[in-house]
Amino acid sequence: SPESINQSNPLLQLQNLHPYPNLSTPPKSIPFQQPTPLTSFSYDSDHVLHFNDSALRYYRSPPPNAQLGYGYERWIRRPEDRSRIDSLLRGVDRVTALSTGSTNTDANSMKKMNLADVGVVAWRGVVTRILTAPYEDREGWEMNVMLVNGTMYLEEHRTEAQIIEKNDIKPHHRKMMYYGYAFESYCTTDTPSTHSHHLPSNAPSPHPPGWGGDVDTNIQWCSIVRTKLGDIKFIIGGEVDCVQGQYKEGTTDTFVELKTSMSIRGAADEAKFEKKLLKFYFQSFLLGVPKIVVGFRSPSGQLTTTQSFNTIQIPRMVREKAQAGRRGNANATSNTESLAWNPSICLEWGYGFLTFLKQQFCRETQDDPSLREEPDSDSAGGGEDLNATVWRVNFVPREGARVTKL
Ligand code: A3P
Ligand code: MG
Ligand code: MG
Repeated sequence: SPESINQSNPLLQLQNLHPYPNLSTPPKSIPFQQPTPLTSFSYDSDHVLHFNDSALRYYRSPPPNAQLGYGYERWIRRPEDRSRIDSLLRGVDRVTALSTGSTNTDANSMKKMNLADVGVVAWRGVVTRILTAPYEDREGWEMNVMLVNGTMYLEEHRTEAQIIEKNDIKPHHRKMMYYGYAFESYCTTDTPSTHSHHLPSNAPSPHPPGWGGDVDTNIQWCSIVRTKLGDIKFIIGGEVDCVQGQYKEGTTDTFVELKTSMSIRGAADEAKFEKKLLKFYFQSFLLGVPKIVVGFRSPSGQLTTTQSFNTIQIPRMVREKAQAGRRGNANATSNTESLAWNPSICLEWGYGFLTFLKQQFCRETQDDPSLREEPDSDSAGGGEDLNATVWRVNFVPREGARVTKL
């Protein structure tokens, strides 16, 4: 097996490792292209996928001091599963074509993206994990990678034990999770409104003002976008919490991400929040979501303040805070880097990692001709008939990402 070979050969062990970056080396800047939506879909309350926007929600300001614990007993919670790539592949299938050299007479295919040009297909969460890895010092992760016709399909790998653990969360933690969804309910409606603020409705309602409906986490609206990091083209799918104003097809301009976080009461809380901003930032940045609305709450789930962030300005905010910190602390040794994170380090490392992955595969396929894929328009989007070889990536904080063939 590849594992036993690698264990006995230190050179091979180094070859299959993309090492952890040096955080104090100035990063190269790898350009990231503004994402463009290709299509969208909805999951209904049975978590069945429909290629429509029935689950799309519209933003409105939440009522002040909203109770985020409201409706907790009625939460319909979708169990954690393997978060497979299948539904994303169905979407990808609708918006791509595989150029096979034959004349295409389908008028729709003119607009379709050529799948052969796409380097990476993945859910947004997977790409966020890769890009934020340089600053991840606690949690390792594993993913499966398949190479089909030159495109890498990345999927999170969870063991049975991890899924059980994810479903068996402590009541206290479960409640905190719920606060995030309740905030989504208070911040959204199912119809676009000309009013951006909550207005009292005339109809009597058993619910508190501004409640947008009981939480059912089966229901989701997802967008699939195309983008590019350096020379790697991506197709990325992810959930979008809501849009502000009217929904405009073909642009992410009105997309909004909703988040909750504990109210900030001191410097330690502030530093913690800055670290969280890294994840908020990439999660939104990757789908082209320009705005993040954060609901700050008390430990018992009462909304205290709401603050909105322009996604692309978050890195500068974090940088300016670090500079202010240095100025304010005259005793600090001159060059102490108090910057919490730098997105360029993430983009450079992520780009390097994906390039490294591709190189590993190309080397393998050269060594083993049976792994070479013949272009086959049926096999790319089907999901179940991907009989490609699977590689496993194992990320260990402060060490790097190691790849092995399964
Ligand atoms: P918060 O965003 O308020 O933390 P998202 O923010 O990605 O739209 O997800 C909505 C809510 O789902 C989150 O609310 C959180 O409660 C829960 N959630 C999302 N990702 C999670 C994860 N990796 N682990 C636990 N809960 C998560
Ligand atoms: Mg969401
Ligand atoms: Mg959210």
